[in-house]
Formats: sequence, C-alpha cells, structure tokens
Amino acid sequence: MKILVTGGAGFIGSHIVDSYVKAGHDVAIIDNLATGKKENLNSKAKFYKADLTNKIEIQKILLKEKPDVINHQAAESSVVVSVKNPQQTFLNNTIGTVNLLQACVDAKVKRVIFASSGGCMYGDAKTVPTTETAPPSPLSPYGITKADGEFLLAFYAKEYGILYVALRYANVYGPRQDPHGEAGVVAIFLNKMLSKEKPVIFGDGSCVRDYVFVEDVAKANLLALTKAKNETINIGTGKGTSVKEVFKLLKKAVGYTEAPLYGPHRTGDLQRSILQISKAKKTLGWEPKTSLKDGLERTTRWFHGE
Ligand SMILES: NC(=O)c1ccc[n+]([C@@H]2O[C@H](COP(=O)([O-])OP(=O)(O)OC[C@H]3O[C@@H](n4cnc5c(N)ncnc54)[C@H](O)[C@@H]3O)[C@@H](O)[C@H]2O)c1
Repeated sequence: MKILVTGGAGFIGSHIVDSYVKAGHDVAIIDNLATGKKENLNSKAKFYKADLTNKIEIQKILLKEKPDVINHQAAESSVVVSVKNPQQTFLNNTIGTVNLLQACVDAKVKRVIFASSGGCMYGDAKTVPTTETAPPSPLSPYGITKADGEFLLAFYAKEYGILYVALRYANVYGPRQDPHGEAGVVAIFLNKMLSKEKPVIFGDGSCVRDYVFVEDVAKANLLALTKAKNETINIGTGKGTSVKEVFKLLKKAVGYTEAPLYGPHRTGDLQRSILQISKAKKTLGWEPKTSLKDGLERTTRWFHGE
C-alpha cells in the first residue's frame, strides 16, 4: 500500500512510519519540522519538508504521490500553545486539515486516518472511563481543532466518499517524546530526573490520566489501514494512573532518590481522564499490549541512550 504520513518526523508519527515500513508499505512523509526532528525520519520513507498551510504545495505532493491512504498526525499539539496563540493553532490544525482533505479529493485518496484526542474531546466528562458516544466538549482551542478535524472527515466522507478512521488518543508516552514541551509528563519527569533536577508536580499530584505506550498506538494505526470505516475510536488503556503514581514508577525505573517539588494547580487541568476502549477491540481488533511499568522502563532505557 502507498501511504503518506503527515507529521512523520514527530513523536507519534515517526513510530507509525516505522510500523508501516516494517509491514512492507511504501511510505512518504510530509512534515514542516516545527517540532518534528530529522533524526526521527525513517530512512526508507520519502521525505517532503512542507507545511500543511501551503495548499498549493500540499496538492502538488499528493498529486505526485497518489497515496492510497493518508495518515494525518501533523498538528500543533500543545494545549498551552493553543491557548496563547489560537489563531496560529486554527490555521495550522483546522485550515491545515482542510487543505489536506481537499487535496485528497483531487488525488483520489481512498482513506484517511486522523490523530484526534480523547484527552481533550470529552472535557470534564460525566462518565469515566468515557465512551465515544459522550458529546464533544473540548475546553481549549487545541481540542476544538480536533473536533473540527473530526467534523471535516465526516463531511468529506459524505460528500466525496473518502473513508475515515479518527483515533482519539489518550496520553501517549514513549521513546522520542520531546521533554521540552508543555505536555508529556513522562518525558518531562524523566529528563529532569536524569539531569539531576527536581521534577515539579502541579497541584497535589492526584490528577488521573490514561497512559498508553506509543508502540501500541502505532499498532492501532496499522490496523486502521484496512479495518473500520467512518469510525471514531478511543485509543487508550481504560486504566487511570495519578501523576504521583507515575512519579513513583519512574523514580524506581531510574533509581532516583529525591522527592518531587510541588507547584500550583494548573488552571484547566482535568481531574480525571480515562478512555473506555471496547470499541477499539470490536472495530480494529486492537488492545494495548504494554503495561505502564514495562512502557516506562522501555522509555527510561531510551532516555538513557540505550
Ligand atoms: N502526544 C499525545 O499524548 C497526543 C494525545 C492526543 C492526540 N495527539 C495528536 O497526535 C498527533 C501527533 O502528536 P505528537 O505528540 O507526536 O506531536 P509532535 O509535535 O511530536 O508531532 C507533530 C508533527 O507535526 C509536524 N507539524 C506540525 N504542524 C505542521 C504543519 N503545518 N505542516 C507540516 N507538519 C507539521 C511537526 O513538525 C511534528 O513533526 C498530533 O495530531 C496530536 O495532536 C497526541
């Protein structure tokens, strides 16, 4: 299969590219390297340094490549940045997605897989673990752009017959996650612990998240190449872990001995976010395989350079 991955130089996108290449697919990447890194690029994939906001260039690349499937991971992925600069986030994420989908029509792309967000889509959900049927209630410009993306997919499916699978990720962690961003507590804590600085826990550390290992997420993207049609699917573990507990597990994996620092509670941080994942099992035949303990140990080894 010929697949074009946007954001393929990023944290999650690069693992998806690796899994597609390993499965024998012909892969091309579009990335503007805003947060993505050249060293994440798979050498067997063709690389276009291009920006999704440039509709002419994106159309040219799609017409040249004529991929069967587009996997759309590229986005401004920081909630904090989106609050500081909403215009740029809507341009990058919403208009970027429109440019891509419009180019898909011209290039006759058959299927689009989209990186959505389970953590942001449900806001402060009434029921936790949360199913896909909960109403979209994003609380940030970033979350709104993810809802935009899903509505756009439904429009292009209805109007042009482009099949879609929107994968609503929980909190993804693993090798290659940027520790210098505003999100990604595992990478941030690991980086601090290994450089002998003290990690800061915001609030009392009781906030609960659903942590899913990046290779499990890549596997869901592999299955979504052929399974499920016009579906929105949670990709998480169904299990919640507090920030305090993540700190404890990492402390053990690293052999760190210090206590954390505590900072003020961050406005907008949800108290609990856990995804219900039975639909992923039913529609994709997917289940997470990596326990948090194993995933954190593997991530620690990567941060050690092993
Ligand atoms: N990390 C998580 O826990 C998480 C959770 C839910 C959803 N997501 C979504 O998954 C996707 C991947 O996230 P990530 O954590 O790997 O982030 P990332 O920042 O590592 O990857 C995003 C990639 O997209 C590229 N990019 C951004 N804007 C672009 C543009 N206009 N044109 C071309 N390339 C562009 C960046 O350079 C980067 O390589 C994003 O869509 C994100 O919103 C991530």
